[in-house]
Amino acid sequence: MDTLYRMGVVGAGLMGSGIAEVCARAGLDVLVAESGSDALTAGRRRIEQSLARGVRSGKLSDADREQALARVRLTTDLGEFADRDLVVEAVAETERVKVDVFAALDKVVEREDAILASNTSSIPIMKLGMATTRPEQVVGIHFFNPVPVLALVELVPSLLTGQRTRQRAEDFVTTVLGKQVIPSTDRAGFVVNALLIPYLLSAIRMLESGFASAADIDQGMVLGCAHPMGPLALADLIGLDTTHAIAESMYAEFTDRG
Ligand SMILES: NC(=O)c1ccc[n+]([C@@H]2O[C@H](COP(=O)([O-])OP(=O)(O)OC[C@H]3O[C@@H](n4cnc5c(N)ncnc54)[C@H](O)[C@@H]3O)[C@@H](O)[C@H]2O)c1
Repeated sequence: MDTLYRMGVVGAGLMGSGIAEVCARAGLDVLVAESGSDALTAGRRRIEQSLARGVRSGKLSDADREQALARVRLTTDLGEFADRDLVVEAVAETERVKVDVFAALDKVVEREDAILASNTSSIPIMKLGMATTRPEQVVGIHFFNPVPVLALVELVPSLLTGQRTRQRAEDFVTTVLGKQVIPSTDRAGFVVNALLIPYLLSAIRMLESGFASAADIDQGMVLGCAHPMGPLALADLIGLDTTHAIAESMYAEFTDRG
């Protein structure tokens, strides 16, 4: 397996900070780009707090935490991504913003075989690939929240993604990060959100219509179906803005309110 050692992560929000953390814990050199200095400070704090939680829960030692932190650098200048082997974009779920990031990465990342990946939950990988001059090197690598805890990654090639990119991305996720991959067709919601989002929307409608209280809806699914948390708590964990954006992308593709 060829080594994808120099990682770039664009966006240090909920997901980008988690992706940066797992890559640093796996021994990779991680450069994270944020849009401004306040967001950069917040992103660094998120990574620090999550690593500190890992120490408190006995999942990593203090030395592991320090080494991981030393491998992460944050910047507001995407121009510093020239030497990156693999970049994972994790900015907000807005097509225009992601397309602009991919066009910028295409200009900046100099390595000929670099992989440009997106953590999008629902935006077609094809559209992101088409924003670059190298769509065969663009692929969806969709992590789950919280990234340090959940084992799953959906691997989403577009029709233009090359077989080598797909294989290298899969090797990276399984061998380097130790996560499990399921492949998905490049359709809004991929596998998991195509199932999950209609469920979350049903719970929201149930609450809105007064059919059941928020506490009862969540308790019903925790105690009745052994889910680790109820759908309303899960929608809050994902973020209502992200949940809404995924639902809109799915509606745009399937014209079905679910
Ligand atoms: N929230 C979830 O549970 C979840 C799960 C899986 C995948 N995702 C996907 O991950 C992506 C990020 O979601 P999130 O929940 O982390 O969002 P978030 O809002 O927490 O983070 C997005 C970050 O991107 C930054 N950003 C925006 N534009 C930027 C730019 N041009 N350059 C650099 N940084 C920029 C913002 O400042 C923010 O910190 C979305 O595509 C989302 O669909 C989210």
